[in-house]
Amino acid sequence: MCGITGYIGYRDAYPIVINGLKRLEYRGYDSAGIMLYDGETMHLSKTKGKVCDLEEITNTNEKRKKGKIGIGHTRWATHGVPNDVNSHPHFSQSGNLAIVHNGIIENYDTLKKELIARGYSFKSDTDTEVLVNLIDEVKKNEGCKLGKAVQLALTQVIGAYAIAVFDKTKPNEIIVARLGSPIAIGVGKDFTEFFIASDASPFIEYTKEVIYLDEHELAIIKLDKGVKVRKINDDSLVDAKIEELQMNLEQIEKGGYDHFMLKEIHEQPKAITDTYRGRILADEGIIKMAGVDNNLEKFLTANRIIIVGCGTSWHAGLVGEYLFEHLARIPVEVEYASEFRYRDPIITPKDVVIAISQSGETADTLAAIKLAKSKGAFVFGVCNVVGSSIARETHAGAYTHAGPEIGVASTKAFTTQITVLSLIALKLGSEKGTYAKANFQNYLRRMELIPSKVEELLKIDNQIKEIAHIYKDAYNCLYLGRGFNFPVALEGALKLKEISYIHAEGYPAAEMKHGPIALIDENMPVFVIAINKGHYEKIVSNIQEIKARSGKIIAIVTQGDVEVKRIADHIIEIPETEEALSPLLTTIPLQLLSYYIAVMLNKNVDQPRNLAKAVTVE
Ligand code: G6P
Repeated sequence: MCGITGYIGYRDAYPIVINGLKRLEYRGYDSAGIMLYDGETMHLSKTKGKVCDLEEITNTNEKRKKGKIGIGHTRWATHGVPNDVNSHPHFSQSGNLAIVHNGIIENYDTLKKELIARGYSFKSDTDTEVLVNLIDEVKKNEGCKLGKAVQLALTQVIGAYAIAVFDKTKPNEIIVARLGSPIAIGVGKDFTEFFIASDASPFIEYTKEVIYLDEHELAIIKLDKGVKVRKINDDSLVDAKIEELQMNLEQIEKGGYDHFMLKEIHEQPKAITDTYRGRILADEGIIKMAGVDNNLEKFLTANRIIIVGCGTSWHAGLVGEYLFEHLARIPVEVEYASEFRYRDPIITPKDVVIAISQSGETADTLAAIKLAKSKGAFVFGVCNVVGSSIARETHAGAYTHAGPEIGVASTKAFTTQITVLSLIALKLGSEKGTYAKANFQNYLRRMELIPSKVEELLKIDNQIKEIAHIYKDAYNCLYLGRGFNFPVALEGALKLKEISYIHAEGYPAAEMKHGPIALIDENMPVFVIAINKGHYEKIVSNIQEIKARSGKIIAIVTQGDVEVKRIADHIIEIPETEEALSPLLTTIPLQLLSYYIAVMLNKNVDQPRNLAKAVTVE
């Protein structure tokens, strides 16, 4: 993980780099640092803590902010605990080179020993300090330029990296390179300035022109000269494409909300609409999705669909399993990408693999995709971030169009992923004839009503706050659901864990009696999704079982429910809809509940401890 930023040009670099780091804090926030070059000296400021802690240090001395060139870093620790010394940037022993790094150098120990044998000593415990010294050593031995030295050093490295390297003896350039971690280069007018960042958000107010480095690529960014991109392994020149950025500043600001998470919860009506906009022609009974249309045969003749993902995306995949099996009658397996990739799974060219990822950068998901491709499977991506590694690595795909998601706890990514999966499953169901034409159109119309129903649900804020207040001090919580809403129970529990640090477990309601029921007493809040579809009577029985053991029941029911209302301690009503679409509604109160509990407990909602938004390490 970690976020890196950089600038070289005619403006003061400090505000650009520091504000860029703030936008990248979702990638890691246990330490932060910045190096500014003022034409003579490299000024280094770094500290354990967040970017605001770094600012306190830079504010003590204006010199620390001087310079038209700078690189910065916000860290999520891998090698070496979060402390001031391990924070980036790191300098080489000669004091000439500075580096920021996102990723892991797996063979750092071997390289370190070799460097120690050649007289190097190290201040930090990081793999990054090893890399910067390796580059310096190669430069010295080969007598080559910085770009070449970085390239040669990287051929000795095993692991993942996105790096930016600066050499004060050649201060008109910055070298960046990538393998396994993303990097974007913003190109200013007439090549008079360049921006570097882990994603494009740090520089969107300065330029819309961006180059995304591909795997195994290195770029030499030279003032007034432009960007030269090479392949690291074979030295061939790459014709780097300048792309036009679609994001705008407003999309990545809080827009009056206290937290990104709350903003993103409230953005769901629009995000879901944006997901199906232009894809549904309800009156004609058509779903248009280029990635599916162009590969229809592959989907229709697939032996099975394997869905891979991590975290919340894995939960969306579980909803996908119900959707594909129910609507399109295609067998589905849902896999944690991290398990799948190492399990030597049986994959054949008749399998379709759907990889789900908000960021499009999750290392395990990316590795699972590569494995599936190597076995001949057709791999389809469902990503939010346009141009991300997963979007590029897959054979075809569909974007969720949710807009930037900054809060670490995923919300609108989940509902938009389910929307995309719904569209694909429905389309395949209609093509295969497993879902009746008449139902198909009805389903589409009901889907178009979802955003207004989510809007309606978002108005029950005060009721949710009351419930949050009652249960905020619980030590454990149980979340139960059945069928389409079993994955929602898992997701509800994950949301609570992630941001309030309360232990929570999600379970299929009927499984409760095989273990979790032993935990139920008057101190155990149980959140039960009990809508009037599917196995309503069964879940009412499950609720009775909890009641009989004095558990506290907070039930999510369909508007007008009578039976559960009689038994539950609290009910939250959701509007009526198709069972297959209900996760898009039942998940909303659970997101709000975890949000308000975390706020009441005074937790850092958008940057929960130990977590990061994009997990680019295994
Ligand atoms: C991290 C995030 C989660 C996310 C998971 C998968 O753990 O904190 O919110 O669900 O990664 O991320 P992806 O970008 O692949 O959906």
